[in-house]
Amino acid sequence: MFRRLSDCHNVEDLRLLAKDRLPAPVFHYIDGAADDEVTYRRNTSSFEECDLVPNVLAGVQDVDMSVTVMGQKLDMPLFCSPTALQRLFHHDGERAVAKAAEKYGTLFGVSSLATVSLAEIGALTASPKLFQFYFHKDRALNAAMVEKAKEAGFHALALTVDTIVGGNRERDLRTGFTTPPKLTLASLFSFLRHPSWALNFFLREPFELAELKSHIPEGSNISVSVAEYFTGLLDQSMNWEDAADLRAKWGGPFCLKGIMSVADAKKAVEIGASAIMISNHGGRQLDGSRTPFDQVAEIADAVGGEIEIIVDGGIRRGTHVLKALAAGATACSGGRMYLYALAAAGQAGVERALGNMRREIERDMKLLGVTKISDITPDMLRYR
Ligand code: LAC
Repeated sequence: MFRRLSDCHNVEDLRLLAKDRLPAPVFHYIDGAADDEVTYRRNTSSFEECDLVPNVLAGVQDVDMSVTVMGQKLDMPLFCSPTALQRLFHHDGERAVAKAAEKYGTLFGVSSLATVSLAEIGALTASPKLFQFYFHKDRALNAAMVEKAKEAGFHALALTVDTIVGGNRERDLRTGFTTPPKLTLASLFSFLRHPSWALNFFLREPFELAELKSHIPEGSNISVSVAEYFTGLLDQSMNWEDAADLRAKWGGPFCLKGIMSVADAKKAVEIGASAIMISNHGGRQLDGSRTPFDQVAEIADAVGGEIEIIVDGGIRRGTHVLKALAAGATACSGGRMYLYALAAAGQAGVERALGNMRREIERDMKLLGVTKISDITPDMLRYR
């Protein structure tokens, strides 16, 4: 079937369009997860284990879905999680996502493994931006990244804490996916079957990990899998003291991305973090881990009001966002929900993805009988 962007009404439609457009190794890098991908599937299906209980006759013509996250007002309660390697998915990469996020007044998370520099992204948009930090063994690189994010005017910094080693991503093992992509017979065949992707990739500006390339050749000049990158280059001794120290060096709103337990959420409060992202890295790290939605109520009971709580993972529908908010989240974020769209059609694709989600959230708030985010309360959820 020939698919067009205007036929994409939901995340799955965009996923299928991305699958058409991308060479298989690149598509499966985005689409895949760890081991048996149980956690990846459950990240979304856990939303189906409870139901919303709407109220009616509530006078819902004007909806305000804005929220404040890490000191920044967002026009919608869903933002773009940081994700790596974006120019591999579409030649505009992070530029396209930054512009689309600005158009929808939401926050854009930029990865340490970004393919456009922090300085360029900082200058491109005035909207809220978060820098996602990987804690490398190379301390000079760590210090340089903090400085670059400050200079580029990033509003918040998120330390990722769930990638202490690489997850077992068997789709990547099978396809041989690396950054930068290796030219093997199999990958060449798959690139030739996607000539427009291949022409853009090979003829436009060279692929590189903009903030890392001057410190580390892996990822820009030496091909490695993402799992090898994590295991080989990130600091496995990272601990709470390092997190507290990074927070102090950064000095601004600070978030821990990849918190799952109540105990760790309490420690995040103790070190003065502004926010946690409840996340299992899109099911790409510890398969068999619980899901962000499963964990939000108990974390909100323990630390709600003391720290902002972002539910990151599995969001495919406006109702998923509303359920997470009802369970105690401050806001939600997602990676694949906009990455498929980036691969499908660049900035126009990401705008389509965010527009679809915004319309769903607005419609669903009206159907739920609420006009603002603070009206969404735990009594609107029933677990089966
Ligand atoms: C991932 C990293 C890079 O592939 O976020 O999951």
